[in-house]
Amino acid sequence: MSSIPVLQLLCIFSVIPLVTCNSDVTKETLSSLQQQVQKLQTAFQHQNEYIKELKDDAREQKENFEKRIKYLEDANNNMKDHCQIQCRGQQKRVSDANAGIGFSASLSTSTALGDHQIIVFDTVVSNDGNGYDSRHGHFTAPVTGLYAFSVTAMCYGSETELHISIVKDGQKIGVAFANGNHYDNGSKLVVVPLQEGQMVWVEHFGDPSGNKIYGNTYSTFSGFLIQAY
Ligand SMILES: *[C@@H]1O[C@H](CO)[C@@H](O)[C@H](O)[C@H]1NC(C)=O
Repeated sequence: MSSIPVLQLLCIFSVIPLVTCNSDVTKETLSSLQQQVQKLQTAFQHQNEYIKELKDDAREQKENFEKRIKYLEDANNNMKDHCQIQCRGQQKRVSDANAGIGFSASLSTSTALGDHQIIVFDTVVSNDGNGYDSRHGHFTAPVTGLYAFSVTAMCYGSETELHISIVKDGQKIGVAFANGNHYDNGSKLVVVPLQEGQMVWVEHFGDPSGNKIYGNTYSTFSGFLIQAY
């Protein structure tokens, strides 16, 4: 009989401190856990903010890259257009030059020639590119390139000989000869490179006495651009 209250007491004395002890531990644990949760929440919040910052940065960088790419594409297109215009201009200049330079002129009046007298072929048959000057007998190269020049001179009068030369800026580049006894024809073709502005003409050289060149379109001077450089 007496064992029951003893047991009860034992039980009470053993449970109470256990419960109180346990209750303390639980409180401490709880508050520590709360603190930890608080810390974690704060850390989580910081991380969220950091992620948001990173996202914003990434978006900004993407926008910057897109802008930069657009700018470079535009610049590239502009450059392409510019090059095409320049190329077309250059092609046009070369084709214009090649299409449009050439002349032919003949001598209208028979004449006696002095030494180093320039022969002025005064009747213009053609003069594309306006290189030939029919008042002075000069051809002036409108563009730099390779040119061809041809001269034919008919000589007349017994006992006469006709020496003529094609001259480039004072330097003989071709010589022709004709004997006057039989209305002889002297001729020469030369191919010569010219810088823009260089001149070519035909002149008589040698004995000035009675060297006669026949006009009436029998004597001619022609030239043309083969290829612009
Ligand atoms: C020179 O050429 C002309 C034609 O341009 C001709 O009438 C003349 O007979 C030629 N002279 C000689 C010697 O062949």
